[in-house]
Amino acid sequence: MNILLLGSGGREHALAWKMKQSPLCSSLFIAPGNAGTSAFGINVNIGVNDFAVQKTFCLKHNIDMVVVGPEDPLVNGVYDFYKNDEALEHIIVVGPSAKGAQLEGSKTFSKQFMQRHNIPTAAYAEFDDLSFEQGVDYLEEHALPIVLKADGLAAGKGVLICQSNEEAIEVFTSMIKGRQFGEASSRVVVEEFLAGIEISVFVLTNGSDYKIIGHAKDYKRIGEGDTGLNTGGMGCVSPVPFADAFFMKKVEKNIIKPTIKGLYSEGLEYKGFVFFGLILVNDEPFVIEYNCRMGDPETEVVIPRLNNDLVALFVAMDKGELEEQRIEIDERACCTVMAVSGGYPGDYKKDIAIEGLTEGLGEDVLLFHAGTRQAGDTIVTNGGRVLAVSAFGSGIKEAVNTAKKGLEKISFEGMYYRKDIGYEFE
Ligand code: AMP
Ligand code: GLY
Repeated sequence: MNILLLGSGGREHALAWKMKQSPLCSSLFIAPGNAGTSAFGINVNIGVNDFAVQKTFCLKHNIDMVVVGPEDPLVNGVYDFYKNDEALEHIIVVGPSAKGAQLEGSKTFSKQFMQRHNIPTAAYAEFDDLSFEQGVDYLEEHALPIVLKADGLAAGKGVLICQSNEEAIEVFTSMIKGRQFGEASSRVVVEEFLAGIEISVFVLTNGSDYKIIGHAKDYKRIGEGDTGLNTGGMGCVSPVPFADAFFMKKVEKNIIKPTIKGLYSEGLEYKGFVFFGLILVNDEPFVIEYNCRMGDPETEVVIPRLNNDLVALFVAMDKGELEEQRIEIDERACCTVMAVSGGYPGDYKKDIAIEGLTEGLGEDVLLFHAGTRQAGDTIVTNGGRVLAVSAFGSGIKEAVNTAKKGLEKISFEGMYYRKDIGYEFE
């Protein structure tokens, strides 16, 4: 099969690495990819949202499967573009339709969906320009802290947690009246704050059947001890010690099954990944968010632990044969530690040469590029999150230590990484 993978991060490097191992994969193209993905396929300079250019490319290269990494093209209807075009409709697209992607693309849609299907989530209310004054009244009385969420996609920045009613009203005003996140914040979800430990669970589904392919815990804050600003994710561990069989059964029964049933009963076409962002409150899982794709850096631990042929799983998913698949997960722990540019998640420099990439990082270590670019003979930084080093170990502590040893061989000016990934499980 000829496969086109859309995206350019660590997630896509991990997916490219995995798919290239499949005997079903003949040619792999990555649009646009990064300096790491070119080791597993051909990077092509096409944007993830340039659907018309993708069409020409797919026809020229006889593409059989398109795997969509990030949420943006999904919310923009990449699945529908392929399926509504006679010349492209035969191509397997891994990713939901635009309607299905609303689970991530609209917080109000996902909250209403959870309510319709009795899926446990934080209590909430939604407001827009017309109900702005009611929103202010609501916030004046709301218990603290208060969670405010822009309805639409806001590059992971649209959730703000406020410690006072005044701050919440200020943020709410700048979201709705000041369009702080553009149209994405023209509607706002106000949510009850849930205190607990978070975990992400990943499912592959064709919209009626599903398989759980793994789970992970992400470390979102920039600083050690979970302090400082939120980032896209500074590292991950898998498995998460509290996610035992009993817990996962509960997640399946209370959350995954009703979600898939809900997609089916509402006729939402969905052939792709569902990322369940969960929080554990008094031993009960609640949905914090849905994403319509794999996580980054979660993919960098979930995919290395998955022993199945990923391309074969995608084919089975498309044919409606997921039920017959047996998911096999590596017993070992896997962790990933993300090296970021100095200043991230604020302003940072790009185009800094990265040293040490030619060295072997050691047994049981995998290097995934996130924000990198080939500049002549040199690989340079090209984003806030630059590299993810993943490692296996008999337990989390060993995996983290191995990943850190691998990272010590790499350097670039301003490079920073958290040394305490997985700290609470040591
Ligand atoms: P989201 O973009 O929806 O994943 O939210 C980003 C982060 O905000 C989550 O990973 C949580 O850490 C936090 N968060 C979101 N909603 C809540 C909530 N209702 N209670 C507590 N924390 C939340
Ligand atoms: N690591 C969180 C995400 O991919 O949304």
